[in-house]
Amino acid sequence: MTARILRGRILTFISEPSGPDDHQSYRYIEDGAVVVDQGRIVSVGEWNEGLRVVAPKAEVIDHRPNLIMPGFIDTHIHYPQMQVIGSYAKDLLEWLNTYTFVEEQRFADADHAARIASLFCDELVRYGTTTAAVYCSVHPQSVDAFFTEANKRDMRMVAGKVMMDRNAPEGLLDTPQRGYDESKALLEKWDGVGRLHYAITPRFALTSTHAQMEMTQDLVREFPDAYVQTHVNESLGEIEFVRELFPNLPDYVGVYEHYGLLGPRTLLGHCIHMTDREIAALSETGSVAVFCPTSNLFIGSGLFDRERLMASNVRIGVATDVGGGTSYAMLRTLDEGYKVLQLRGQRLSPLESFFMMTLGNARALSLEHTIGSLEPGADADMVVLDARALPHMALKMEQVDHLSEELFLLQTCGDDRVVAETYVAGEAAKRALG
Ligand code: GUN
Ligand code: ZN
Repeated sequence: MTARILRGRILTFISEPSGPDDHQSYRYIEDGAVVVDQGRIVSVGEWNEGLRVVAPKAEVIDHRPNLIMPGFIDTHIHYPQMQVIGSYAKDLLEWLNTYTFVEEQRFADADHAARIASLFCDELVRYGTTTAAVYCSVHPQSVDAFFTEANKRDMRMVAGKVMMDRNAPEGLLDTPQRGYDESKALLEKWDGVGRLHYAITPRFALTSTHAQMEMTQDLVREFPDAYVQTHVNESLGEIEFVRELFPNLPDYVGVYEHYGLLGPRTLLGHCIHMTDREIAALSETGSVAVFCPTSNLFIGSGLFDRERLMASNVRIGVATDVGGGTSYAMLRTLDEGYKVLQLRGQRLSPLESFFMMTLGNARALSLEHTIGSLEPGADADMVVLDARALPHMALKMEQVDHLSEELFLLQTCGDDRVVAETYVAGEAAKRALG
């Protein structure tokens, strides 16, 4: 690996923006340089010709006038659903039963899993995402396929085997014991290898028996540093079903609470239809609510209430949720997130959006010392954004005077075409896609 110097306009967040004009929350360098070596950031600062003297062997890559930012982070996505995206259904349960639970059975085939895992990583890179929290299928071979691929590309990834032992087709069910044994074996095999992290992944309360929940609790007790990822309070039909399955527990979040699954490493997808008690439980345990706007709109699940969760200091992540979600792009995701919040009468400024895609999601994963910002010692995962990539955007850019306006244009109109490059551990990964 050779040292590289990336020259361009640099943007990285330092803290959560308190409003649209919080210029203390980020660092912006108009003519900046990021020096990377051995997959890490060595320094970030003003460009000066002296850098060529200090590091004469370093390759200089000139990205001007583009923006260099930390790579995007997606805190909830399903890789076995690449061929589910864009499936027509009336609601979540119909969508799961008609398409998703059928498609995921194909991941019993290790060759199929390997093919999709590779194409999945290609898509993340194409859209500027360098880290994701990923659901595999119930099959251990699907987890092996995903981690093998992510490790080959030296990507920082969180993933796990879905555990589910009821209310799905036979081919997609494990048992409490198998779910436990297979998850444990996969965790011991992959967690900490390269840049990989394991997530204990009970799919949701609807597809796990009490016995499976208990054994999931055993796993969490044994591996308190592992992530936990699941879904909660996404659709009204789902919530009603969970109430019937767990009549003695107070509510849906109460199921996860009862089995000891809440905590600072727990990622809860959706969190739309929340009671005050449930919000308090997330807040007290430091659990993370993950906002999945394109999915919530597409499936018709409901509108996330960001202000209400923030008022109780609930930690919040944001995610694509492909294939319920409709785009791999975190830019498209935050654009839809903006619209969801507009409908709720809530504001989401461009600075807040770009914070959420980077440092905010790194914090949601408790990985802020490693990814999510451009700091010496951090992983050299970066995205280079070109707000003039499309003719209509270039035209609009003629009238853009401020960084926030440029960010908002990127979010509103951008997709993979504005991603000029994606660096994974210091290597140009998008160019390598060809
Ligand atoms: N709830 C349980 N499984 C899923 C899934 O795969 N996608 C979504 N959107 N919700 C779920
Ligand atoms: Zn999901």
